[in-house]
Amino acid sequence: MASENVETELLRADADGIARAGALLAGGALVSFPTETVYGLGANATDDTAVARIFDAKGRPHFNPLIVHVPSVEAARGIAEFDDVADRLASAFWPGPLTLVLPLKVGSVSPLVSAGLETVAVRVPTHPLAVAVLEAAGVPVAAPSANPSGRISPTEAAHVMDGLAGRIEAVIDGGACDVGLESTIVGLSPAPTLLRPGGLPTEALEACLGGPLPVHASEDVVAPGQLASHYAPDAPMRLNVVEPRSDERLLGFGHVECDLNLSEAGDLVEAAANLFHHLHALDAGGEMPIAVSPIPQHGLGRAINDRLRRAAAPRG
Ligand code: TXA
Ligand code: MG
Repeated sequence: MASENVETELLRADADGIARAGALLAGGALVSFPTETVYGLGANATDDTAVARIFDAKGRPHFNPLIVHVPSVEAARGIAEFDDVADRLASAFWPGPLTLVLPLKVGSVSPLVSAGLETVAVRVPTHPLAVAVLEAAGVPVAAPSANPSGRISPTEAAHVMDGLAGRIEAVIDGGACDVGLESTIVGLSPAPTLLRPGGLPTEALEACLGGPLPVHASEDVVAPGQLASHYAPDAPMRLNVVEPRSDERLLGFGHVECDLNLSEAGDLVEAAANLFHHLHALDAGGEMPIAVSPIPQHGLGRAINDRLRRAAAPRG
């Protein structure tokens, strides 16, 4: 189920186009839509396979956690826990180019969206077409910028078509984006921290908070050292295992006898969709070591292997 050779529909920003975009998203398809910052590549955030396809379509070599887009503050409360500071920031800057990283309401979105973390990034965009598409979808929508990995973020539908035509189901054309820069990301656990500068100036946040906003030490919040421990199961893990020892449980791939299989059919999109579920399930099963079948190092296999290596890395 790779995303190649899909016919990409270019939808108009009218009632029909919005209804079509919403229905496609709800049904698990990939749809790019404009926000005030950049064009996002949207997928139903509750659908593991749809979220896995985002990484496949972008050719991402690792599973960064994604931002969940919702049409209202009320919808955001269904996904994340808000404290007083979160409430204050949300009422001051939503809808708008601010993303808040908050404690996840477990089970509200696919674990692939938050890359297995216990927090989730959420935002309520202000672009009327984005809001209309999100309302039509009726589900939370995970959306990174709609460019192939390593390329610059798209601010027009034509940019999205150039980069992703043939890999996603649709693009809805809302003209050029106003801000042209990704949203500002603020983390709140425990104290407000700037995780990524972006379309909302830091000064505006500091005025609202009544004090300076510390900047996160690392520019890349998904740097291996930083998040590795969150993903790591308690049980020791061994990778690229063809013959598991008798004390190991096998996380399989392809036609192998195992405890849990990422994809019997050897489908990397299916394997990505199952990855965090299966890791959590095996980890819940106790102290027995986990062995993992070899995963091919192409397509989503690169991201899966990257994540497995971090999960298996010794903890310091
Ligand atoms: O303007 C934007 O924010 C655009 C438009 C489409 O809305 N979206 C966007 O999404 O830039 P994306 O997926 O490229 O940004 C995801 C970034 C991650 O790389 C990470 O920096 C941060 O959001 N992030 C997401 N979840 C996080 C979490 N649980 N903890 C820390 N950082 C997180
Ligand atoms: Mg991006």
